[in-house]
Amino acid sequence: MEHRKVSLQERSASERPGRAGSEALWGKLAPLRTDPRVITANRIVTTSRLNPAHTVFDMMRTKLLQQLQQNNWTTVAITSPTPGCGKTFVALNLAFSLANQRECRTVLVDLDLKRPQVAKMLGVGAPTTIENFLKGEGEIADVFLRHNDNLAIGANSQAVSFSAELLQSRETVKVLQEMRQRMCPDVVLFDMPPMLSNDDVMAFLPNVDCVILVAAAEQSTLGELDICEHELSERTNVLGVVLNKCRFAPEKYGY
Ligand SMILES: Nc1ncnc2c1ncn2[C@@H]1O[C@H](COP(=O)(O)OP(=O)(O)O)[C@@H](O)[C@H]1O
Ligand SMILES: [Mg+2]
Repeated sequence: MEHRKVSLQERSASERPGRAGSEALWGKLAPLRTDPRVITANRIVTTSRLNPAHTVFDMMRTKLLQQLQQNNWTTVAITSPTPGCGKTFVALNLAFSLANQRECRTVLVDLDLKRPQVAKMLGVGAPTTIENFLKGEGEIADVFLRHNDNLAIGANSQAVSFSAELLQSRETVKVLQEMRQRMCPDVVLFDMPPMLSNDDVMAFLPNVDCVILVAAAEQSTLGELDICEHELSERTNVLGVVLNKCRFAPEKYGY
């Protein structure tokens, strides 16, 4: 049997009839109005092309899209061994880079429930709590903010105490499945907590197709990475490790 790889456009037209029906819902999402100064200060470089660092995320985006298409995957968790490695920084830069790919629809959800940072990093107020949403008490249109017509960001206004319990509840699974059916995204990025701090990531992994591990140079140890990679690869597909916060980057390709 011949396996022909299909493009996102072909996939959206032929295999996902719900996509047209989801346009109305996307149209209802309030626009994301970020603060350009906050975005720049937080090194979000993929909303404009001014900073050449955006190419790193564009390459990451393209590799990610290829892997997702090849495997028919949609959902990606982004985690790290410990706090502060740059998960939210990577998640947001990747999300805006994906948004520049106009035929690709992306949803980003802040699931670092104990320490939500997505709204702060963008300089916006989160409209509501992700806890309510995951409990089935909030509408999609009340939660997600829209950038252009192909990126929806679900930020969180309030930390959650019983986060692991919430992340593995049946209601959460149902709400996220319904979100995917109704919004028809090509990519769903979950900005997760660090793995070695609590059991949130372990609790949530059954809900994702694959995971990106973010390590921080001069912070993450080989021992930590070993533990994380081992635990992740037993439970899901590890797309790769992103080495973040490298101070010395070679400029040899000079584009
Ligand atoms: N590549 C980088 N270069 C410089 N600062 C960075 C880089 N990545 C992240 N940071 C900064 O490090 C801090 C932690 O990043 P953040 O994405 O919030 O980490 P996490 O989500 O893993 O806790 C933030 O202040 C962020 O702006
Ligand atoms: Mg974070």
